[in-house]
Amino acid sequence: MQATAATTISPEAYRALDNEAFPFAVRRCTPTIGADVEGIDFREPLDDDTYLSLRRALLKYKVLFFRKQAITPAQHVAVARRFGELEVHPMFTNHPEHPELVVFGRDGTTRGRENLYHSDVSWREIPSMGSMLRCVECPEVGGDTMWINMAAAYENLPQDMKARIANLKAVHDAMPTFGSALNEEKYAEMRAKYPPMVHPVVRTHPETGEKILFVNEAFTTHFANFVKEAPYRIGSDYRPAELDLLQYLYRQAAAPEYQVRLRWQPDTIALWDNRSTQHYAVQDYFPAVRHMNRATIIGDRPV
Ligand code: SIN
Repeated sequence: MQATAATTISPEAYRALDNEAFPFAVRRCTPTIGADVEGIDFREPLDDDTYLSLRRALLKYKVLFFRKQAITPAQHVAVARRFGELEVHPMFTNHPEHPELVVFGRDGTTRGRENLYHSDVSWREIPSMGSMLRCVECPEVGGDTMWINMAAAYENLPQDMKARIANLKAVHDAMPTFGSALNEEKYAEMRAKYPPMVHPVVRTHPETGEKILFVNEAFTTHFANFVKEAPYRIGSDYRPAELDLLQYLYRQAAAPEYQVRLRWQPDTIALWDNRSTQHYAVQDYFPAVRHMNRATIIGDRPV
């Protein structure tokens, strides 16, 4: 297959290629999620075969880790763009010369606020396909990031729970997380531009065909159709029942069995699939300096 800028893989091709070897070294980090990749140099353009193999590895392991990648912000943008169009994040601080890069710059004056399980920009109509995060500077210990395999989290739900959430839809909203940092005018502008979005609670991965639990504690505020799907709860108790169910699903993401944890070093890169994972940036390092750049790759409408 000749790779274009953002060639994707179909579920059929993904299954057919499942046992094929990768043209680079891959070492799994846990049985469930994450792999270290060696033999890739992001300073060089990715040839088509390597790109497609990396995409296949990304689908399989969900988050890939690359060490010693001393790339420039321009190279970061270029390699992330192989995986799809990049977004300019409307709420975070962006790199002055490369607005496609979010800059997470934390020091003794600012604490990281990404310590909530989330899938990047799930509040958009078209949420992210993936993200590529590079460590510029980090403390010697602390500031790890954790990722969760949300296909495994779904798969291991009890059968009756799967039936219960099969047709549910959930509302995702940026404002509970980002709104407090905005002044009144900016809040009104962002509210109008980014209204709450409804996505299925269980989405199907467009490239692997896996079913994925797609609610997260940072951005999912409530179910859009809880009462319709659970009419026996109509009455004064439907709201607590709805919140209980959401909390149950959030707790499923918090199980260590579905997680991997990365200890960063400068020039480490993590590339993850936002459709099938959530992540959490551990905020245990204040007031140390932690400086990261993230490219966010645009995805597709969840179905
Ligand atoms: C993010 O939420 O994308 C940032 C993760 C991190 O800084 O480790």
